[in-house]
Amino acid sequence: MSAKLPIVVLLSGGGTNLQSIIDAARADLPVEIRAVISNRADAFGLERARRADIPTEVVEHRQFTDRDSYDAALMKCIDGFNPELVVLAGFMRILGDDFVRHYQGRMLNIHPSLLPRHRGLNTHSRCLEAGDAEHGASVHFVTPELDAGPIILQARVPVSPDDSPEDLASRVLEQEHRIYPRAIRWFAEGRLKLENGHALLDGQPALQRD
Ligand code: GAR
Repeated sequence: MSAKLPIVVLLSGGGTNLQSIIDAARADLPVEIRAVISNRADAFGLERARRADIPTEVVEHRQFTDRDSYDAALMKCIDGFNPELVVLAGFMRILGDDFVRHYQGRMLNIHPSLLPRHRGLNTHSRCLEAGDAEHGASVHFVTPELDAGPIILQARVPVSPDDSPEDLASRVLEQEHRIYPRAIRWFAEGRLKLENGHALLDGQPALQRD
């Protein structure tokens, strides 16, 4: 295996996905987490990064009057670390088109639903309200349309009628922690690419359900 892939992780909250990437990198995931960046100074994910001796940055959206200037500041911060991959791990901001295009093909997101079902927020309660028999998580390349980029990998979980949104959230998170490091590994190994709007793994359509 050649050098490790430099990555930057963006998050807004607890950072359990970050933790799964840190743990995988401590084992054999070939990445170097150059920085963890948050739009919220109180995100517990920043504390997880500090505990792992990973540099942290806060770019608070409240200090910017419009999305373009926020995105520009965030881009500058990210690019200061020269990552080859940007990993969105619970980053709860909608990113503008210019920002997304700048990282096209080198930015991944994990979303707590079986996309294309339940784009956006509150996926667990919406899944219950819809009476879905199954739920899950999706890793995808980020493209300008929200939660609509080419899907790389999905994991499914069963839903029972007496589940609460919290039950579903923890069941889904457990799967997220499994599939996100796996997709990042594929990218780090040069096996995963975005080509002509398709996610390809070893040159074939990547989507695998798990
Ligand atoms: C995860 O469930 C992730 O899929 C979701 O936020 C949670 C973050 O958890 N992301 C989104 O909803 C993105 N729109 P974590 O901070 O413990 O990793």
